[in-house]
Amino acid sequence: MPENLSSQLEEYLPPPVLALAKIAGKEGSELGQELYLVGGVVRDLFLGRANFDLDLVVEGDAIKLAQELAKNSRAKLTVHTRFGTAKLNYPGFSLDLATARSETYSKPGALPTVKPGSLKDDLIRRDFSINAMALCLTPHRFGALIDLYHGKDDLDNRLIRILHPNSFIDDATRILRAMRYEQRLGFKLEAETEKLLRRDVAMFDTISGDRIRHELELILKEAEPERVLRRAEELGVLSQLHPSLKGNGWLSQKFEQARQSYKQTSLPPLYLCLLIYNLTDKEDEEFILRLNFPKNSAQAMRYTLQLKAQLNSLANSKLKPSDIYKSLHSYTTPAIQTNALASESPIASQHLQLYIAKLRYVKTLLSGEDLKRMKIPAGPQIGEILSALHKARLNGEVRTRKEEKVLVYSWLKGNQVKPPAG
Ligand code: CTP
Repeated sequence: MPENLSSQLEEYLPPPVLALAKIAGKEGSELGQELYLVGGVVRDLFLGRANFDLDLVVEGDAIKLAQELAKNSRAKLTVHTRFGTAKLNYPGFSLDLATARSETYSKPGALPTVKPGSLKDDLIRRDFSINAMALCLTPHRFGALIDLYHGKDDLDNRLIRILHPNSFIDDATRILRAMRYEQRLGFKLEAETEKLLRRDVAMFDTISGDRIRHELELILKEAEPERVLRRAEELGVLSQLHPSLKGNGWLSQKFEQARQSYKQTSLPPLYLCLLIYNLTDKEDEEFILRLNFPKNSAQAMRYTLQLKAQLNSLANSKLKPSDIYKSLHSYTTPAIQTNALASESPIASQHLQLYIAKLRYVKTLLSGEDLKRMKIPAGPQIGEILSALHKARLNGEVRTRKEEKVLVYSWLKGNQVKPPAG
């Protein structure tokens, strides 16, 4: 008799999610299709970690079942006919439905050839035993655990284990995934898995930049990505992404400081710029090219190094706020934040922090329209006056509208422009 986890499921899932899981199981049964909860959510149920974006596998036709479920609800349905998958978005959570499938790899690192299959086929194609458990949602077997690869034992023993010796060869992104789960959960790589991982690190050469980058992005979203990067260095994985990358104590310290200084959502781009901080421009370009970074990230990484090369000029305690603003306003925020964390000069760091916390928000009180109302004719002069006002405001030389107006008149006088009549 398989273990039954229906009472744990009832406790773990929030009531609306549980109700839906039951309805889905019943609908599936009416269509003659067995339905299973699979992957991360089963793992997290055992670990007591919240995870309510449900992955469901249907032995049958996932799209048909999703369409039935969508009929009687306000969920938004998205269908991928080519992959036999569908997504239902409910307020606050989602259901991913996939048709059970088998996968074969024509060559290492290639995207797999996929065809419909059984639950068993669908589980063996997965990365690790702890991610390859399923719970049946069909009413007559509701809560039955299917654990063909002893994922529950590995959870109890805190081990990350691949399902077959060619796993990392088939898909080397699993190397990064293994370290991500290991460090997130405080587990260990099972001994044979670690041996095979070390054997197969060079298989990264078979993986596209986009796929490696996606896994790196997932790592950078973890609560403490530095742990994964440190482990990646230890296992010889980080140097496969670029030989000059380091997951060392410096990086750990800077990541920690980043968390203390900035909010969660701004951390991933910052982590990325810290990761490349000690690369040369040439190495940075090689890394950008290999992982095919999109424009935004590539720009943040380039600006980080450009600004780093200019830090000397910011390490001068005599600079006025307007000088700091002028040096920094064309850089992107992550580049400035990264340098504020990583600069070795306390003065440069202070200036960068001042810009981030204050200077970048400084605006003049008078607008171009106000100046026109003061009878200053439209044209380049308005821009020049606004930038003189902005500079004065940055330096604290004007504080009120009245003071700004006085400055406008003295600017006109100083530039030998006759103050307008009226
Ligand atoms: N999976 C896999 N191999 C991959 C990617 C995913 O076998 N290269 C499988 C795993 O079974 C995983 C499931 O697909 O549990 C869903 O993938 P994903 O959403 O990336 O993982 P979760 O475990 O749901 O989420 P997380 O990793 O953030 O906990």
